[in-house]
Amino acid sequence: MDNLKYLSTIENLCIENGKLQAIIESSTNGIIEIDGSGNLLSSNPAFYQMIDINPQDNKHKNLAEILSSPDLNKELQILILGEEELLIKGFHIFREDNNRDTMKYLEIKFSKVPVMDNFYIVGIVKDKTDIMKALNNREEYISTLLDIIHEIKVDNRDSIYHIASLVELRDLTTGKHLERVESYTKTLATEYMHAYYKRDGRLTYDFVDDMAVSSILHDIGKVGISDTILQKPDVLTYSEFESIKEHTIIAGEALKEYKGQKDFLAMGREIATYHHEKWDGTGYPTGKKGEEIPLSARIVSLCDTYDALVTKRPYKEAFTHEKAIEIIQEEKGISFDPEIVDLFLKIHNRFLKIREDYEDL
Ligand SMILES: [Fe+2]
Ligand SMILES: [Fe+2]
Repeated sequence: MDNLKYLSTIENLCIENGKLQAIIESSTNGIIEIDGSGNLLSSNPAFYQMIDINPQDNKHKNLAEILSSPDLNKELQILILGEEELLIKGFHIFREDNNRDTMKYLEIKFSKVPVMDNFYIVGIVKDKTDIMKALNNREEYISTLLDIIHEIKVDNRDSIYHIASLVELRDLTTGKHLERVESYTKTLATEYMHAYYKRDGRLTYDFVDDMAVSSILHDIGKVGISDTILQKPDVLTYSEFESIKEHTIIAGEALKEYKGQKDFLAMGREIATYHHEKWDGTGYPTGKKGEEIPLSARIVSLCDTYDALVTKRPYKEAFTHEKAIEIIQEEKGISFDPEIVDLFLKIHNRFLKIREDYEDL
């Protein structure tokens, strides 16, 4: 390479380096450079702002010490010696601010950069304090709600409506779904009682009434499902669907103290846990089949499905009443109890009437 070309390459490298420095300096993410032993070689202003310390005092200090994380050096050694290219680690930083303790949560993505026979490490630091706060608030919200459910007086039916309406507020797709499911359940369960009261002594007007009220709890477990999944305006991915299935288990947990009590909360637990089971055993969460599935859940399952079919959802158009009948008939003995399907086919016009009475706005 002649001298002139050599100089121009050096000049270009300096310009590129200057641009890179400007990007690092102005980045809102913290950017740090450390050696293989975890000593801080350089860092940008964003990093010092995040950890709220003076840059001069901390140059060449060990990062494990700055972040009060004794295990960090060991983990960095594993990164350097191992085959992984990345280490992502979270750090809680506590500071005293105007006599008030404040906590920050930083996430650092460490990548190793080979230089000659050695390595040094670059870290991209993100302040995730707000995200962590939101997650903690969410957990608090869920546990408060579960506490409320546990404390409900069993004879206070109003409470059940308040709780169910909390789910409705979050699940933007529901509209008047809960009112309709309650009404379909009352209609279908009454029909079931008239048909089978002789063989099943439980079938009384009180039983039917309890079932209708508790039906509105069928999706109460959705309080534990994230808004992004619950409000996704599209078909769910496999893993999103897997997490939405957990609403049945969450509800079972929340209402477990009522197991064994013959009241509407005990029935609410049965319905919320088993309303996605199928007659042939291919449903979830337990894969129970046939009459192993509680009667209340078998009835609500058909009512819930009918309403989902005839309602427009963000990911699908509404089917007609006739199409919904056809689908439910095809699922007789597969998804649904054959006897319950036969009763539905007898009274389907009353479902259509309820659908019209509780039209979504
Ligand atoms: Fe559900
Ligand atoms: Fe539902």
